[in-house]
Amino acid sequence: MRVSGFLPLFSVAASFFNVIDARAVFAHYLVYILFFSSGIEDANIMVPQVGTITDAHALQDINDAIAMNLDAFALNVADPSASYVAPALSSLFSHAKDRGFKLFLSMDLSAKGGGALSDYDYILNDYATAGAWFAGPNGKPMVSTFSAAAYTPADFQTWRASNDVYFMPDFDGTAGYYDAADAWWTAWGGVVDGLFSWESTWPNVGATNDGDLTLDTTVLAGAVAHGKSYMIGLSLLQYKDAYSTNIYRRGELTIAKRMENILQMNPAPLYVEIQTWGHYIGNLWTEANSDAQPAVYATQRGASHTGIQPLLTQFISAFKNLKTSFPASTSPVGAIWYKTILQSTTCPDNSLGGFYSAPSGASVGSDTINWAVVLPTNGASYTIQFVSNGAVAGSVAGKAGFQYGVVNLSANQQFMKIVDAAGTVQYSTGLGRCVSATCWDDIYNYNPQVLGLEQGDHSSVGCWQMTQQARAANGATDGPFYPSGI
Ligand SMILES: *[C@@H]1O[C@H](CO)[C@@H](O)[C@H](O)[C@H]1NC(C)=O
Repeated sequence: MRVSGFLPLFSVAASFFNVIDARAVFAHYLVYILFFSSGIEDANIMVPQVGTITDAHALQDINDAIAMNLDAFALNVADPSASYVAPALSSLFSHAKDRGFKLFLSMDLSAKGGGALSDYDYILNDYATAGAWFAGPNGKPMVSTFSAAAYTPADFQTWRASNDVYFMPDFDGTAGYYDAADAWWTAWGGVVDGLFSWESTWPNVGATNDGDLTLDTTVLAGAVAHGKSYMIGLSLLQYKDAYSTNIYRRGELTIAKRMENILQMNPAPLYVEIQTWGHYIGNLWTEANSDAQPAVYATQRGASHTGIQPLLTQFISAFKNLKTSFPASTSPVGAIWYKTILQSTTCPDNSLGGFYSAPSGASVGSDTINWAVVLPTNGASYTIQFVSNGAVAGSVAGKAGFQYGVVNLSANQQFMKIVDAAGTVQYSTGLGRCVSATCWDDIYNYNPQVLGLEQGDHSSVGCWQMTQQARAANGATDGPFYPSGI
């Protein structure tokens, strides 16, 4: 029997069912730039933001999350006294309760900017017992963090003494954490119920070890040895060109390999959290971001990532059902993702540096269609075909369950199709932005197009291209966006 990294205190027979029930998948959700598993802010710089969300959009995000089979949002709150936090929480908790969805607090201690941990207490006081707070395996309200910042174990002990929670922080910036060092456990072990690692989710800047779980495996083993649980991160990539940061941590096959590897972990994590910071899977609400720089590359209209959701739903179902690989789907599910400039593209304002220079780590980007699919039990009767710039770029025999890969691309349209034994295109990707050798956005835009499979043959939709560089007063362009009329 595969067991979770969480060591149950109950009898073996009872714990088997408890452990199955306990597995859950969350999405990090920013309450100071409210993007559903988005994140375009810098972890270390407090930036004034609108940070608001309409009540209707809070409900939409929750409905979308339920449709994906997510269990909860980890609500990232930096300054809990900021004017937009309480209204946003009110909308989210109200709709979550109505819809049977769960939420929990993730204290963004890096962005909080100091002050007492007890500043967050009003959130727990108002909502922990109001019916929508996610409970940890001990039945207590779960609380996570981004970072330990400069808070000490004693600070957390004091905070915990008046907040009876299930505490699953991200303390991965503390000395010895990724080594599961004895000294780390001596210092911090008494503070935590479980561990969540943030930075291990992506290859380092400039690295290509897509999907590598080595760091997580070490920390998880330490957690298991100390009777604690583990939450593992999952993310498509990390690209951020805003707030004085310009980095690329590889997308390519990171999420595909990581999903496959996570299912095979033994001991396994109890929870998965789909992360933000340079990635998003849900709606980008315009009221939630007032900053021009991220709006150049991350907009719902120009670079929606919702096409990845059906693939994530297959993973969520497999993870929660203790599967060691993706089961066959009921119908073909999948997506492609690719960036819209070539590695050889140079941008006209490169010499200005900063926002306009290539991101750190750009050299490990690739000119590829990155793809993953889950096929039904008759998967072997399908062929997965790729078309780039109108030419066949690859063809792969289908099989039941999960498969993924990369195909070299040329500029213009990128397209994946699932073709049955009779040669009919049953599913294909839809409209996406063209790949171009021209730097239309005036920045090295490494944010990918994410195109999900849709029923039918959509090869005739072509691709859309930027047609202008509409420079705003602050020097940023207004792209990517659809040209009017599309
Ligand atoms: C894909 O591109 C890479 C990098 O240019 C090259 O090394 C590789 O041979 C190409 N693969 C195919 C199948 O053309």
